[in-house]
Amino acid sequence: MALPPSLPPSSGRPARLVVLVSGSGTNLQALIDRIGAEGEAFGAEIVAVGADRTGIEGLERAERAGLPTFVCRVRDHETREGWDRALAEATAAHEPDLVVSAGFMKIVGKEFLARYGGRFVNTHPALLPSFPGAHGVRDALEYGARVTGCTVHFVDDGVDTGPIIAQGVVEVRDEDHADHEAGGNALHERIKEVERRLLVDVVGRLARHGYRIEGRKVTIQ
Ligand code: GRF
Repeated sequence: MALPPSLPPSSGRPARLVVLVSGSGTNLQALIDRIGAEGEAFGAEIVAVGADRTGIEGLERAERAGLPTFVCRVRDHETREGWDRALAEATAAHEPDLVVSAGFMKIVGKEFLARYGGRFVNTHPALLPSFPGAHGVRDALEYGARVTGCTVHFVDDGVDTGPIIAQGVVEVRDEDHADHEAGGNALHERIKEVERRLLVDVVGRLARHGYRIEGRKVTIQ
């Protein structure tokens, strides 16, 4: 799928972000904190936070920050297409320049991508194209990779296949295996530290400088 090149450099007003979450929302919090610290100089503001479920810490973080929220649950729609359309419409109501999937654990459909292709950024906890999908951290560990990390990329119609914007590397430690077997997630926590910095940095740069997508190549202008 061709992603339209998008977003001109910031024209004086902050870029409008809708952030989508499904879980603890620490990536969202990192964005909230940086924007709070830098204000307009960051180049972007969060205009709404959307989720695919209720009762998550990510929504509580949004509410604590005074941000509008919306929830679109698959189970409230007869078809997956209906859900996708509702998500696209709920997002569009906030007129975002960029949509950020910050731990949003759903694959969006055609309608959402038709509106937001080339403007929809995801963060994935592995070094793509290795270990796509919902278990990137576990899969890298079980494969025996010695380094893993995180990838911030544009979303296309595949699973974690869109053009890569930036990556961060995290070493796998011997003790991560025992920790994983004991049900811990120390490796994911170390990845998330790198991921939060990377995501915030990338979103700010995209918003301030604008970007072009040519094939798989992303250039921040
Ligand atoms: C991140 O590692 C993200 O890449 C993955 O889920 C985690 C979300 O963390 N898909 P949080 O909800 O931002 O704390």
